[in-house]
Formats: sequence, structure tokens, C-alpha cells
Amino acid sequence: MSRTTNCELSLFFVLIVAIVSMGVPAVEAAQNNDHQPTFTSDIAPILQRSCQDCHRTGSIAPMSLLTYEETRPWARSIREKVTSRAMPPWYIDKNIGVQDFKYDYSLSDEEIATVSSWVNNGAPRGNPADMPPPRQFRDIAEWKIGEPDWVVEIPEPFVVAAEAPNWWGDLYADSGLTEDRWIKAVETKPSLEGFPVVHHAVTSMEDTDSEEGDYNFLNEYALGKNGDIFPDGTGRQIKAGAQIKFNMHYAAIGVETTDRTRVGIQFYPKGVVPERKLISAHVGDDEDLDIPAGESNVRHDGFYRLKENAHITAFQAHLHNLGKRQCLGAILPDNTKQILSCADWDFGWHIVYNYEDHVAPLLPKGTLLHVTSWHDNSEGNRWNDDPTNWAGFGQRSSDEMSFAWVSWYELNDESFEQEVEERQAVDNDN
Ligand code: HEC
Repeated sequence: MSRTTNCELSLFFVLIVAIVSMGVPAVEAAQNNDHQPTFTSDIAPILQRSCQDCHRTGSIAPMSLLTYEETRPWARSIREKVTSRAMPPWYIDKNIGVQDFKYDYSLSDEEIATVSSWVNNGAPRGNPADMPPPRQFRDIAEWKIGEPDWVVEIPEPFVVAAEAPNWWGDLYADSGLTEDRWIKAVETKPSLEGFPVVHHAVTSMEDTDSEEGDYNFLNEYALGKNGDIFPDGTGRQIKAGAQIKFNMHYAAIGVETTDRTRVGIQFYPKGVVPERKLISAHVGDDEDLDIPAGESNVRHDGFYRLKENAHITAFQAHLHNLGKRQCLGAILPDNTKQILSCADWDFGWHIVYNYEDHVAPLLPKGTLLHVTSWHDNSEGNRWNDDPTNWAGFGQRSSDEMSFAWVSWYELNDESFEQEVEERQAVDNDN
């Protein structure tokens, strides 16, 4: 019933748009609409949900967008950044693959159209009575997972000078753990003072004894996200003697600022081994990259075979400065193919995309994960220092990489069947 109505409605709008757009300039067309978006009724709610975590005093963005007075001077820049989907930083392709993610603050097409027509109409304030109450922000000092059992900090306080170029790099700390433990919850966060300069922080464990130098993802800190509390019976193992790697991006804010980012961990009780093991791995590494100078769309492919049935929880592209886009696909044992996610890449943001539980991909053992990456070595890429040189694989950030971090938990055949059936039952109800 509601579907028919929606359908009729959208047909109606298509007709209206078709009629209105015939020979009428866009600005005028928007003005002819009944409802003209205003700051107080239409824009403020969008800014509250999708922008203000970062765009407020003391946070990481260059300007605050809490009030009309603060926002108005940025109107045109806002229109440009939201219509190009550069802001908010969320680069999942909306036309392909899974679409429901945790912490998704991206804008819908309708919201982008609203922002655009608000700016085109001269960015009016509107009726002050329509203004929503100011958003309450969380206390940054508080651990979202609750008090951790174990805290590991970066080895030294990190000082970001008042004026300094962006700093990217890895800092290593000993975990100090003397026995293997299973993690129930984990959260990475800057120290209180460091909060405005920490653009992102990604933590992982490194088992230095292992031949492959096994890494294992722990958690991503980014504004607007919480720590990870794993579902009951699900856990990630941390090995005795593990090193913690902090992959940091610091950005200067005009005042010298010191940070001491930390990761807090809650354990399962000693001796308890959770039934489901949460794994994160490099998937589809291609170490034979060939990226000619000046080329803007160079593709490479890599593969990874799942040995057990998997419930995929998260995807994060891993490319360096020349990265442009990455897709994660799956080739099932029966040879059917799916694209799970595609995301554009901006070196300034390392975003982990966490699938909502009800759409998290369920893949049978034997599935081949397929990672396709594109690099841009042309001068059109703002992160490219040298478009006249060939680029290839390497560990330095001036070299390139191509793989995805994928997180999943393994399921035995019985539990896998059960999850698949539960999913189908829900799908049939809709
Ligand atoms: C996760 C943090 C974050 C969120 C969410 C976010 N921004 Fe930003 N924004 C930044 C940062 C940091 C910059 C500085 C440039 C950069 O690093 O990309 C920025 C830059 C901008 C700029 C360009 C400013 C300039 O100096 O030219 C605009 C405009 C902007 N943001 C608008 C928005 C709007 C509108 C939203 C919400 C719809 C939003 N941003 C959401 C962090 C964020």
C-alpha cells in the first residue's frame, strides 16, 4: 500500500521536475517550489546529525557550524563540498553493494538537494522558532565501552606544533601482556588535550614472533564513532607480548598541542574462549603494482580465499597517496559473483565501514574475496607529489599499496545455515 503511494509520489515529482526544468533556470525553479528550505527548519538538523561532531570549536574541522552566524559565510563552500560528496567524509558508493552501515552520517540525495537549493536561494535564516534545540555532545573523556581492564598508550606524548604539515605515521607500544587473552570490547581514543589534533587513529596488534609479522586490527578512532563491543560469545584474541601499532594522522590547529592516544581493552574472564572468533586480515594484497606516471585510472586485482564460513562485519580500503577507489567483491563457490562494497579513496581519511548486522555479508567457506583498486598518478590527484614518476609497491607512504582490511567472524556449518535462514525469513517478511 505505502509502496504504491511512494511510487505515485515519485512519479509526480518526476513530472513536476520535468515540467519545471523545461527552459527555466535552476535557481528560479527552486524558488517556484512551495517549500523553500531555511536554516532553522531544514539545514540545522542536517548539520547537527552529519557535521557538528567535527565542525565545532575544539574539534578537528577548520570552522564551527553550530549557528546560523557561523554557517552563513560558508554557504557556497558547503554547497560545493556536499554536492561533490567530499563532506561529510564518507565515500561509500551509494549505487552499488550493501548500503546499511553503523555510524553512517552521510547525506541522502534529498538532503544534498535541500542544502543546494537553500544556498541557491540566498541561504535564508528562516523563522528562529523553527530552530531545533542545540545538540548535546558526548563527554570525550568517557570510555564508551565502560572502564577498560587494560590500557596501552603511544610510547611518548606526541607534540603537534602550532603550525605543522599533516603528520602520518605508525607508533608502536608494548602491550605488556604476559598471557594470551580474548577481547570483549575495545576502544581507541586521543587524550583529552589531544582530541583536536587527532584526525584519525587506527590500532592493530602485531605479533612480532610470527613469520608473516601477523597484524590484527583492533579498532578505529574517528569522530562520531564508538568503541567496539563485540556481540556475546564473539571475541578477538590478543597474544602475550603483542605490540600495539597506532597508525596516526595528526593535523595542526594553530596552538601547540600534546596528545597521548590510547587503546582501552576489556577482556573475557581468564580461561573463557568465545565461540566466535573475530578476525581481521589483509585481503587481496597486490605487491606487484605498476602505476605509470601521469595515468589517472590504473587498476589492480587481488584475491583471498575464505577457509571457513564468514559473517563479514567491516571493510576498509587500504591505499596510499595515489589511491582513488576500491571495490570488495565475492566469488562464491557456485561461481556467482557479488559486489559487497565500493568506496572512493581520499588519503586524508581512513574510514572503516561497519556493516549493519542485518545486511552483513554471509559468505560460505571457499568464497574468493576479490579486491579491485584504482590508483591515480596524474596531477589531478591532490595528494600526488610527483606525477612525472612511475609508482610501485612499498612500505613507505610515498610508495603504494593495494589491499583491504576485512573483519569477519567464522561460523561452523550449523550456525552459518542458521544465520542464512534467519536472514531469509526476515527478507521474506519485507
Ligand atoms: C569526521 C569529521 C567531519 C565531518 C563529519 C564533517 N566535516 Fe567538514 N571538514 C572536516 C575537516 C577535518 C575539514 C578540513 C579539510 C579536510 O581535512 O578535508 C573539513 C572541511 C570542510 C569544508 C571546507 C572548509 C574550507 O576550509 O574550505 C566544508 C565546507 C565542510 N567541511 C563542510 C562540512 C559539512 C557541511 C558537513 C556535514 C554535512 C561536514 N563538513 C562534515 C571534518 C568533517
